Amino acid sequence: GKPLVIAIDGPSGSGKSSVSKAVAKRLGLAFLDTGAMYRALTWHCLNGRIDLHDAAAVEAAARTISLEQNLTPEGEFVKVNGITVTEPIRDPEISKNVSAVATNLGARKELVRRQQAVIAQCGHRIVVEGRDITTVVAPQAQARLILTASEEARMRRRGLQLGGTQSAEQLVQQVLARDAKDSTVVDFQRAADGVYTVDSSDLDFEETVTAVINVVRSAV
Ligand code: C5P
Repeated sequence: GKPLVIAIDGPSGSGKSSVSKAVAKRLGLAFLDTGAMYRALTWHCLNGRIDLHDAAAVEAAARTISLEQNLTPEGEFVKVNGITVTEPIRDPEISKNVSAVATNLGARKELVRRQQAVIAQCGHRIVVEGRDITTVVAPQAQARLILTASEEARMRRRGLQLGGTQSAEQLVQQVLARDAKDSTVVDFQRAADGVYTVDSSDLDFEETVTAVINVVRSAV
């Protein structure tokens, strides 16, 4: 088929992952979760006692690890050097530390290179989601969009509320802290030129998927 790269960026809790997968399924496209790559590299560093603030060591790890992940919207698996880490990379411990890896510019360069190779390998028919896809990884994508949601909607989806229990409050602060740190290297909050914004605050899941597909149809 014709090239159809759909680039989707957005903050954590915007529903990006599940919406992107649903869009890929509907349109029969491959799917790449780039956040999983940053998480897998973080897992590898923590597991191998690599100091996350040793920039050269983290960059070297990014260059040398083998990363495997599913490239379809069905199921999910992630492997680092042959070890299955699908579940561990979702641990709060990883979420807490991933920004330290994501702000390493050498590591980013390497992961971006790998992401671009995946896009080519999938014949440029793929939905790619992350933080810098519309701007850095796939600025030539046929459709580029940012999925946003109000802070309140994002927390609600995670079952969290400001002014909730103390642990909920801590989780809210962790999510906000992660977005703040990520924002120092990638601008996923504001749409670059030619990038559409879909605000899902007042949309349910199906409505959000439909809104994204409508943007894709209008863009191509
Ligand atoms: O999307 P997810 O929450 O799994 O991403 C985890 C982390 O990976 C983000 O908080 C961010 O630090 C990093 N990331 C990134 N660039 C991407 C995707 C994810 O910096 N394209």
